[in-house]
Formats: sequence, structure tokens, C-alpha cells
Amino acid sequence: TMLLAVIGDPIVHSKSPVMHNAALAALGIEGEYFPLHVSREDLGSAISRIRELGFRGINVTIPHKVDVMAYVDRIDDSASRIGAVNTILNENGILTGYNTDGIGYVRSLKDETQVDLRGKSIMVLGAGGAARGIIYALAQEEPKTIVIANRTEDKAIQMAEEWKSLVNISAITMDKIEGILPDIDVVINTTSIGMHPKTSQSVIDPEMIPPGIIVSDLIYNPLTTELLKKSHERGCTIHGGLGMFINQGAYALEYWTGMPAPIETMRTAVLKSLQ
Ligand code: ATR
Repeated sequence: TMLLAVIGDPIVHSKSPVMHNAALAALGIEGEYFPLHVSREDLGSAISRIRELGFRGINVTIPHKVDVMAYVDRIDDSASRIGAVNTILNENGILTGYNTDGIGYVRSLKDETQVDLRGKSIMVLGAGGAARGIIYALAQEEPKTIVIANRTEDKAIQMAEEWKSLVNISAITMDKIEGILPDIDVVINTTSIGMHPKTSQSVIDPEMIPPGIIVSDLIYNPLTTELLKKSHERGCTIHGGLGMFINQGAYALEYWTGMPAPIETMRTAVLKSLQ
């Protein structure tokens, strides 16, 4: 029996159990995926227990993605460069940490918009934890350039400095966005602005967005944010955050089972549970 779990605090609202249990059933794998509420002070003992009980895999969510790195045996190179782990694979008691958030995001963006990111100019709004994984994964796609725009310029400058050996990357403040947007092919919101319940907010004025470009938002509650709605009205191709969630789960499941993830089954299960 394949035992899987997600650990976080809070955990009740996680859609991962519904998504992965549907996937296990579709793959014909006997197993179960449990939500485990783990507080910061219990993180180390929770990981030991999971190892002892022979769980095959775990997802790690807020607030443990950074702290959990201290409790695994090995960390995959990308996860270590991103500085966060969201997926753990247990092979006979040896735990390896991976990060599937960024690659899940990029797979979703490419699958859902058919974009070829090579040679494209990408603007990332925000420079927090979510932006980190995404920028690292985007850098692997050989874009022309990545511009990070953040309220706190220092954080964006630091990130650009850190990744500059991987990709052409720069940092700007929010007031410079409008001047740069005409040269941008893909805009990605990684901030929480526009998330439920403040759904009428938008991180930038959608009127600034050039018609016809790709606009993506990591938020999936609501499925279509104000930024995306307005961008769609302007003739842009839009991409919401649900696909990132589904695909980070798909990559995790692929590490655990070695089988291709049933993406559409997973998406249907999550959409049904959101209703
Ligand atoms: P996450 O892990 O979801 O990325 P985070 O690490 O707290 O969360 O990062 C949140 C990001 O959203 C940051 O880039 C933050 O900007 P600052 O670095 O200036 O804090 C951005 N953000 C959050 N609220 C914002 C707001 N009201 N206006 C502009 N940017 C905001």
C-alpha cells in the first residue's frame, strides 16, 4: 500500500488529498494520501515518524517548505538552488527533497497556452517564495530576458543578482512597469493581490498591458482573477494558477510512482471540490 501525505499548518483547506486520491484510483494503485496537520515545533518529529511508517512520499506546504530542508537526507540540485522543498521521496528510509512548484508552473503555462518561452521577454511581478521557484524554472527555458518587478526593490535586485549566471535577468520597481511592458511577451503575477476575498484588486492596472500578450496569475481562488479578466477583455491569452497546482502535484506523483500522472483526472477532482 502506497502511503502519501501533505504536511502543513493550516492543512484543512488543502486540495492535495482529493487530487492525489483521485490520481491513485485512476492509476490503479492501492494507497492513500492523507492531510497531516503539523505545527512548526513538530516538524522534525513528524518527518521521523513519516520515515518510520514507510510513507512513500510527502508534499510540504506552508509554512514548512524552507525548514523541512534540514530534515531530509538529500536535496535535489534545483530544490537546493531554489531554497525550498515541496516534495519528498522516501526510498527505503532515505528521504530526498525536490521542488516541483516551478517546473509544475512552467509545464502548465506551456501546455495551456502553447507558448514557446525560448527567446521571450518575461515580466515577473513579485519577488517572494513563489517567484523564486518560478524564476528558476523559467530560466531553464532560455528566454531572452526576465524582468522582476517588486514593491521592495532590494528583494528583486538580490534575486536578479543570484540568478544572473543562468539567464539575462534584471530588477525594477513597480513604477517602471508601464515603461517596460511594451517589450514584454509574458506577464506573471506571483503576488497574492487579487486573491479571495479581495477579488476586485489587481497588482497592476490592466490598462497598461499590451493587447495580445500572455498574462498569467498564480492565484487559483478565484480561478480567473481581476487581472486575468481584464487582460482577456484586452485580447490577451490568459493562464490561471490552477494548472500550477495540478502540475506540481503531477510531478510529485511521478517521482513517487514512476508513472505518468493522470492530469485530467486530477484537474477534474480539484475543480469538483472547489464547487
Ligand atoms: P509567496 O511565498 O506567496 O511568494 P511572500 O514570500 O510573502 O509570499 O511574497 C509575497 C510577494 O508579494 C512579495 O513580492 C511582496 O512584495 P514585497 O517584497 O515588497 O513585500 C508582494 N506583495 C504582497 N502584497 C503586496 C502589495 N500589497 N503590493 C505590492 N506587492 C505585494
